Amino acid sequence: MTQPFAPGANRIWAICAVAGCVTVALTLMFGRPGGPGEKIPSPAIEAGATEEYGRRLIAQTPEYLGPDAADPKMRRMNSRLACASCHLGAGADPGNLSLATAITRYPRISPRSGGKETIEDRINGCMMRSMNGQALAEQSPEMSAMVAYLRFLADQDAGTGATRKKAHEPPAFRTPERAADLKHGAEVFALRCAACHGKEGAGLAAAKDLVHGFVFPPLWGPNSFNDGAGMHRVLTAARFVKARMPLGNADLDDADAFDVAAYFNSRPRPHIDGLERDYPDRRKKPVDTGYGPYADSFPLEQHSFGPFAPIEAFYRAANQPAR
Ligand code: HEC
Ligand code: HEC
Repeated sequence: MTQPFAPGANRIWAICAVAGCVTVALTLMFGRPGGPGEKIPSPAIEAGATEEYGRRLIAQTPEYLGPDAADPKMRRMNSRLACASCHLGAGADPGNLSLATAITRYPRISPRSGGKETIEDRINGCMMRSMNGQALAEQSPEMSAMVAYLRFLADQDAGTGATRKKAHEPPAFRTPERAADLKHGAEVFALRCAACHGKEGAGLAAAKDLVHGFVFPPLWGPNSFNDGAGMHRVLTAARFVKARMPLGNADLDDADAFDVAAYFNSRPRPHIDGLERDYPDRRKKPVDTGYGPYADSFPLEQHSFGPFAPIEAFYRAANQPAR
């Protein structure tokens, strides 16, 4: 069997030698599922809904569900991200966007849909938006496997999890009291992000055929998340960037994280229809949701890039109980 990540691996070394990020290169190549050190069994043999299949679906999503997946019936998404592009360490890493205890929060009431949301619904939220794809059937082996894996993560976390998580808690993000500066964001991007994510934010594919997705995932363009995704909200993105990026050396301050998040979210990306139906209770809509309608009259531009303090103050005042 050939080693699918090998062609990409040489390119990682080339890029990382330039970027001076040898530790990151080593982690990317050997410390992760699917690196040259580990053989990837064929998806066809692995049809059982086991937690191990779930882990692989999350770590190597494009290979199983991407637009180039071997079996046309399995092609369920148009992006070429992996779930693990945002949920680091296949969701097992603690900190921002960790999935270690995610399953314990469901079912719940979703502010976005206004109704009851199961863990399957939440995963499908990321399938349709972050992955720019379609929902998976609730009873499908893939959905069952991902849920089994999330249950396994939570079981593993119980007991030891709290301490471990605390030790790794990322520095808190405080929203700057101004609109994001896209020009400065572009400078931060060129200096701190482009070496891995590419000058045009298009990422670095693991191999020519794209089946194995990206070593450095795209931040915008046709292979990235769509405009309804959580990562397309500038404060969600800024928190993630401050806690996690540049990978292996997350040292940006609040202002740089805010500006660079606004910059990559100002670039073109796929659109999903029907966004006006989100958040039926508009008072619960996050202030940084970059699409209407709103329960306020602040312009779309301000909801996309700030300043957010006036919008937050408006809702604080509106939610005061009547006397
Ligand atoms: C582009 C980044 C991105 C990708 C790719 C992505 N997600 Fe997410 N995911 C998010 C964000 C952001 C949130 C939190 C959304 C929010 O704050 O509203 C989230 C939330 C979740 C949650 C809920 C976590 C909780 O604690 O409530 C689950 C479960 C989840 N994602 C699973 C997945 C799965 C499975 C995939 C792949 C099919 C995936 N995600 C792909 C960004 C992503
Ligand atoms: C050393 C390489 C490297 C650098 C530099 C880097 N990233 Fe990343 N980034 C990654 C990798 C790799 C992932 C996917 C996580 C994984 O596979 O473990 C990622 C994931 C992301 C994601 C979520 C997935 C997606 O495609 O949307 C965002 C957003 C992101 N990075 C933003 C940034 C920003 C902004 C900067 C600059 C401040 C930056 N990154 C710098 C390697 C890097």
